[in-house]
Order: sequence, then structure tokens, then C-alpha cells
Amino acid sequence: MISVIIPTYNEAAVIQETLRRAAETLRGAGEDFEIVVVDDASADGTAERVESLAGEIPARVLRRPGRLGLATAVLDGGAQARGDVWAVMDADLQHPPETLAPLARAIREGADLAIGSRYVKGGGTSDWTWLRKMISRTATHMAATVLPLKLASVGDPMSGLFMIRKSALEDARLNPLGYKILLEIIAKAHYRKLVEVPYVFQEREQGASKLGARQYVEYLRHLARLAAGTGQLRSWIRYGLVALAGAVIDIALFVLLVKKAGWRPAPALLLAIEAALLNNFFWSEAFTFRSAELSAFHPGMWARLARYEGICIAGAALNCLVTGLWLVLGGGILAAAMAGVLAGGALNLLLNVPVIWRTWSGGR
Ligand code: GDD
Ligand code: MN
Repeated sequence: MISVIIPTYNEAAVIQETLRRAAETLRGAGEDFEIVVVDDASADGTAERVESLAGEIPARVLRRPGRLGLATAVLDGGAQARGDVWAVMDADLQHPPETLAPLARAIREGADLAIGSRYVKGGGTSDWTWLRKMISRTATHMAATVLPLKLASVGDPMSGLFMIRKSALEDARLNPLGYKILLEIIAKAHYRKLVEVPYVFQEREQGASKLGARQYVEYLRHLARLAAGTGQLRSWIRYGLVALAGAVIDIALFVLLVKKAGWRPAPALLLAIEAALLNNFFWSEAFTFRSAELSAFHPGMWARLARYEGICIAGAALNCLVTGLWLVLGGGILAAAMAGVLAGGALNLLLNVPVIWRTWSGGR
């Protein structure tokens, strides 16, 4: 049986339509289901509207005394759920209830975790402003940068629409901080097969979003905690040490070649950057990304090297540009090299970390 968990906070205007469409979808798909609405003392009568449908739809309300947050609502709802599969969905119709059908199908076909995703083919975000799109993309990119690959390889880890087999949650100690319970689940649940099902995030037509500055700050805290709790922080420290060594090699070699060996800056810089990249690559291979599963210099190394060079080319180009400009404007060799390395390194850090991480994860 599927237990659909729907957290609500002042969603009286839409909750009945949401429940009806969800029930119709699941009936149409031939699924056995129940719906648990977790309501945080909505003042607009959300809970009463659910209860008045109880004869028509197998839905009940878990009432909580005040606004206690979305993630805890999902877990409290889960604790009451009788099904062997949990479905989690927003109440406000931004998650089309019809998506429950393909999610349920994915679970039937063997997925342990099926995620409604905006960022796979066929998914999307109807009419978002570019600002909201950017915030969402940035938040997703930050997660991919900070968190282990398991999370980074999910297209829409911030989704609030998903289904999971309850068995995958056994002894996963979920920490309900903030808005994004799925992040916790991806990081900690024991699932073998994860599937993303496309859906288009709809415009909110009734009521107001409950997402505010506080939720953004909580999100950052959540990421930091997950990074530390999953051992990713250790990879990060290694990555940072290697990058630092690369920066020293780049700067020292460039300065030596120009000042002591009398090279012209351009070839000296290219050689210095290449030496730094090779340094970073081999330490990544033998140290940073070495793990119980991945030995050092394992097969495919040359392909990874080629890929790594390709990834780093934009940072290298920026490094050249900044160093060159600095010299043209009359700056010293050492300062020019440092400025170039900083710029190139920053670009890599901001844009490339997820792809670099993925290079060592079977090359997805
Ligand atoms: N019980 C309870 N308690 N429900 C809450 C609370 C709370 O503190 N805060 C929000 N909700 C409910 C809302 O009533 C709604 O059903 C759902 O949680 C999502 O809240 P929204 O305020 O509509 O969220 P959103 O549309 O800005 O954000 C959504 O963004 C993601 C995509 O970026 C999230 O809710 C995700 O689920 C969604 O996928
Ligand atoms: Mn919403």
C-alpha cells in the first residue's frame, strides 16, 4: 500500500482538489493507498476540509500544534503511515498529483526511490522568473558541490515530490532540518535503484509560498551538516590540500622559469599550468578520490586525465588571461602568477567541482 504524505500549512483553498486528483490518479493506476495530511494548525480550516472528504477518499489528518517545519511534517506523517511505500507531495498543486502514477509505476518496476524531477528530460518549471530559476539552480549546484557523489548525481535532489519503499528507510537516522527532507533521504537511505520521473513544477495559483529567508539559511546549515556527516568534508580537505599544492607548483615554476631561466612568460605559464594540472590529477587519483571501492591508478586513468584536462581548460584560460593582463599592466611576475591562479582556481571551485567529482565516479 502507498501512504501519501501531504504536509499542509494554510492550504484550504486547494487541499480538496489535491486529494481528489491524487485519489483518482492512484485508483486509476490500480494502487491501494491512504493519504495522511500533516497539518500544522492551519488557521484557514485546511484540516476540516480534509476530514469532510473522509467518506469519499481514504484520507486522515495528523494535527500538529503549530508550524513545526516541512521536514518534520514528512517524518511525523511517515510514522503514522501504514503503507510499505511512502509518497511525499506538496498540497498546493505545484506538484501535479497525476505524477503519482508514473512514480508508482517506477516503484512497481523495482525502484526503491522514485523522485519527481524538474531537471530531467520532460521536466521543468512552468513560468518561473529567471531569478527564481537561478536561485533553484544555484541551490542545486551548491548541493552537488558540497555533497558526496551519491547526491551530486541526482538531477533534482531538492524535490519535494517522491516515493520511497519504507524498507529503504530502516535504520536510516534522518535528521529533519529545514525544508529538504529528500536530501537526507538520498544521503542516508539504503536504496539500490533510484529513478527520476519528470514533472513540470506548476505555478502556485492559491495561497502563498512558505519559503523565505529563514528556509534559505536553514538550507545552508543543512548542507554543511550533511557534508560533515557523510565524510565528504574529508574529501574536501584533501581536495583543498591538493589544489594548494598545485597553486604553489604553478606559481613557483612560472616565477623560476621567467626569472631564473629567462623564459618568455607565455610558454613559462603554459608549462607551469600543465605541471600544476598533472600534479592535481595524480594526487586526485592516488589520494583524494581513492577509497575502498576505487584503488589508485585504476583502469581508465588516461581517459580520466583527458577529461580532467578538458574540464580545467576554462580555468587555465582564465589564469592565462589574468596573468597576462597583470603583466601588461606593469605588475610583477609573482603577483601576476598569484592573481592568475586565484582567478582560475575560483572558477574551478565555483563551476567545476561536481564534474570533477563525477570524473572519479565511473565517469557519469
Ligand atoms: N505541515 C507543514 N508545516 N507543512 C508545511 C510547512 C510547515 O511548516 N511549510 C510548508 N508546508 C507545506 C505547504 O503547505 C505545501 O503543501 C508544502 O509544504 C510546500 O510548501 P511551499 O511553501 O508551497 O513550498 P515551495 O513551493 O516554495 O517549495 C517547494 O520547493 C520545491 C521545489 O523547489 C518545496 O515544498 C518542495 O516540496 C518543492 O519540490
Ligand atoms: Mn509550493
